[in-house]
This record gives sequence, C-alpha cells and structure tokens, in this order.
Amino acid sequence: MQHTFAQYRAAADYVLARAPFVPEIGIVLGSCLGPFAQELEASVSIDYADIPNFLVTTVASHAGKLVFGTVRGKRVVCMSGRFHFYEGYDYEQLALPVRVLKLLGVRALILTNAAGAVNESYSPGDVMILSDHIKLTGASPLRGPNLSEFGPRFFDMTKTYTPELRAIARACAAQSSLTVHEGVYMFFTGPQFETPAEIRAARVLGADAVGMSTVTEALTAAHCGLPLLALSVMTNMAAGVLKEPLTEEEVEQTAGRIAAPFSAYVKDIIEQI
Ligand code: HPA
Repeated sequence: MQHTFAQYRAAADYVLARAPFVPEIGIVLGSCLGPFAQELEASVSIDYADIPNFLVTTVASHAGKLVFGTVRGKRVVCMSGRFHFYEGYDYEQLALPVRVLKLLGVRALILTNAAGAVNESYSPGDVMILSDHIKLTGASPLRGPNLSEFGPRFFDMTKTYTPELRAIARACAAQSSLTVHEGVYMFFTGPQFETPAEIRAARVLGADAVGMSTVTEALTAAHCGLPLLALSVMTNMAAGVLKEPLTEEEVEQTAGRIAAPFSAYVKDIIEQI
C-alpha cells in the first residue's frame, strides 16, 4: 500500500523535531557499511519503530535507526538498516525511506550495498560505482497515484546516478586502497541468490554486478530529483562464476574485511560533496 503525502510529512516532522540539525547528505548503509554509523561525530539516533508510518527492519544485521552526526564537517543522516522487497514489503512501501530523507532536506543521497560480481574481471572486495541499473522484475515504488509534491508521473532515468557525484567518487578512488570500478547493477528480488543461468543472462544483458537492494531507492530518488551516488561492495563472485556454492557467511566475511577501507572511502567522498 502506498503512503500519502501527509504520512510522509508526519514521519519527517517527527524526525525533524528531534534531529540536531537539517542534514545535507543522506546515506543508506548496506551490509558492508554497518559500523559507519558508530563513527559519526556527535551523533543522535532515532529508532525507526518510534517514527510514525515508518517501516520496521527484519534483517538481523541491520540496526533499524536513523543516525544524525557529522563527517568531516558535513551534516549527515544515516539509515542504519534498510528495507528490501524480499522482506515482504510492497514496492510502493519501499518509496518511504528516500521520500522521508528528501523531506528532511538532504541535497544528496548515497546508497551502499553488498553485491555479487558478474563481471569476471572484478574480485571480491572490489567496489563498483553504479553508472546505471537494470530492473526487469516486478513493479515500481512509484506505482499508484502520483504524488506531484515529489515529482511528475513520468520521469527521466538517464541521469539517475548523478555524473558529478560519480566523478567525485572516481577521484577519491585514487587515494583509496580499494579497487574501484564503474558499472551496471542488476536488481534481483531475492531472497534466494541467483541461479548460474540467471547470472549468464545478466552478463549478456550488460550487468557487472547483481544485488537485492538499492534500485527501489534509486527510482524514488530519481522521481524526486535527488542527486544520487550508489556504491556496491563485491562481497562474492556471482553464482556459477566459481565452483563453490554461495553462502551468507562469505558475503558477511567480505563485508567485514572491507568495512574499514570502505568507510574511509565514503568519508573522503562526503568531504567533497
Ligand atoms: N546476489 C545478490 N545479492 C547479493 C549477492 C549476490 O551474489 N551478494 C551480496 N548480495
């Protein structure tokens, strides 16, 4: 079910009444950036459960709170814990987080996620700046009555991943120990990992990485004209690339190993935005 504008407004007003400042940058923390929220300076957090009309996170490794704090002098709000289609939410409900961030006043959004590498020249631990995405499954978070307070019924997707923010991310890669690529993310609903045949199909279609998040948020950001940067950490090679089966443990292990340099990379980017 879709939320009304008044419901988004009520959620944002509740948060603004408790926030220490109007944030400049919103960040959605994926599995690979869990500890990031604890590194914010002078932080204040608000539980999702207390925010009217907000969703509840069901993923064990996701905290479920909004954390306000500063990073290198920039006022940031982090979503520590995100919502996925595989948890049982409708696409329409998944528009909520980004719309609330927009109403909080952010002028840029950073999305992070863990992803499987389809491009065989990538390695686990590498990072990919999203240049574009492919979503061929299911509906859209913008389905249903259009809320013109956020944007038009039909909207452009050619510059969803904002070129200027991608340029900043490419420039910051030079001073990072990480290997950073730029490529196309393909959305799969999950919760199952993909089949080897689906990964071969994704490669033919032009995907460099696959994952189960980010795209609903990117669509919502594009609708409301929010500048966007999205970063994927390759936690594993996608299904069928290697002989071994995929496991949640492998994803978590790589995410844990890369958390510190990835966090440093994201801070460098925030400083430049
Ligand atoms: N597929 C989908 N989502 C993922 C993967 C994957 O291989 N790795 C981490 N998230």
